[in-house]
Amino acid sequence: MAKPVEEILADVDLYAEDQSENLLAAAAAARTTCPVPHTEADGGYHLLTRYEDVRAVCTAPELFSSAQPAIRGVPVRVIPIDTDPPDHREYRRILNPYFTRAALERHEPQLREIARAAIESFVDKSSCDVVADFAIPFSAGSLARIVFATDNRELVDRGVAAAKEAALTSSPEAFQLLAGLAMEALAEAEAAPDDGADNVLRALVTAKIGDRALTLEERLGMVTTLFLGGLDTTRGVIANIVHHLATRADVEPLLRQPGGWQRELEEFLRYETTVAFMARTATQDTQIGDTPVKAGERVAVFFAAANRDPAQFERPDELVFDRAGVPHVSFGFGIHRCLGLHFARIQLAIAFEELLARTTRFRLAPGAEIRRQAGLSLGSPHRLDVVFDRV
Ligand code: HEM
Repeated sequence: MAKPVEEILADVDLYAEDQSENLLAAAAAARTTCPVPHTEADGGYHLLTRYEDVRAVCTAPELFSSAQPAIRGVPVRVIPIDTDPPDHREYRRILNPYFTRAALERHEPQLREIARAAIESFVDKSSCDVVADFAIPFSAGSLARIVFATDNRELVDRGVAAAKEAALTSSPEAFQLLAGLAMEALAEAEAAPDDGADNVLRALVTAKIGDRALTLEERLGMVTTLFLGGLDTTRGVIANIVHHLATRADVEPLLRQPGGWQRELEEFLRYETTVAFMARTATQDTQIGDTPVKAGERVAVFFAAANRDPAQFERPDELVFDRAGVPHVSFGFGIHRCLGLHFARIQLAIAFEELLARTTRFRLAPGAEIRRQAGLSLGSPHRLDVVFDRV
């Protein structure tokens, strides 16, 4: 049963299943009366509901540290998410070259192949569960091939389950499991014969900060973050866009525009905000707007609420495809802005190009029930049963 807005406001809990459906409505109500409410959930935190506050906090890492980047805490290192300047800069310097648009576009043929193989597995049935049959095989397969340069899909499949659990509950076990998988992936990369190929995992083995090599903890922390960042995110966006395809007649023509649908994609990203929130900790007594925040207090940076702030976006609760620009914060803002944003955008463009090359007229399957995730991937469907026609 979905809790009503007034009850949520008395006791916000970003991970509570019974609050997830009305969380954005609760944030909207808070925004006009008490824009930075405080909750006692999970040890207590301030909740940001305004776009300007989210951007201000994300651009002040000296005041708001990322050392503990999740509301429920993370028992393992997740580098660079859990770092502040100056260390953060060093880690990004190592990772960035592998995530530029140009570096990733080189992998386009492989990405198309992964998408086509997934589509092939269900297209003849004219029905599928978009999450299990398409979004997961495609996003996990892409991460495995392009980022981890491995064919070990079994390892990545275990990563899919652990990353979903981490997003749903932030349980220590899920994070430990991810770190264990990161260890396996690293060991595999280190044991592989050097074929001269340049990829992230190999780079971590040889990378240096100053004149020292990365420690095992640092390498593990970076690979754990790639599992986390790459697995439960793009998956959610793909499923959400198919949901719009299946429920609105105007979406398919937009995705089939000859010039591409970059602008529409940004609006989908704003509207859905699949990484709903992250955390920061105040390093000194300060304030957010008029709200005092003491050193050591935690702040939930609610990206999903910022993306629905009417002070920034007209008609924020509607998909509006002809906005002049969509300066959403779905990939975060400031120094921690998503490392994988080009990868995500390229994957999303290819996923739908390939899907619509084989299918048309998506509808929800008769009797389909859509249960949406609570927690970090707020709103992503657990499964999405659809039917379609073949083209
Ligand atoms: C649509 C898909 C995605 C969304 C919505 C998303 C969202 C985000 C957000 C909101 C942050 C900021 C975290 C913060 O401020 O604390 C972030 C950071 C990050 N993301 Fe993504 N992400 C996506 C895809 C990916 C992919 C595919 C990868 C990697 C393969 C990735 C890797 C990372 C990493 C490593 C960071 C940390 C960056 C840093 O701390 O400097 N993400 N992402």
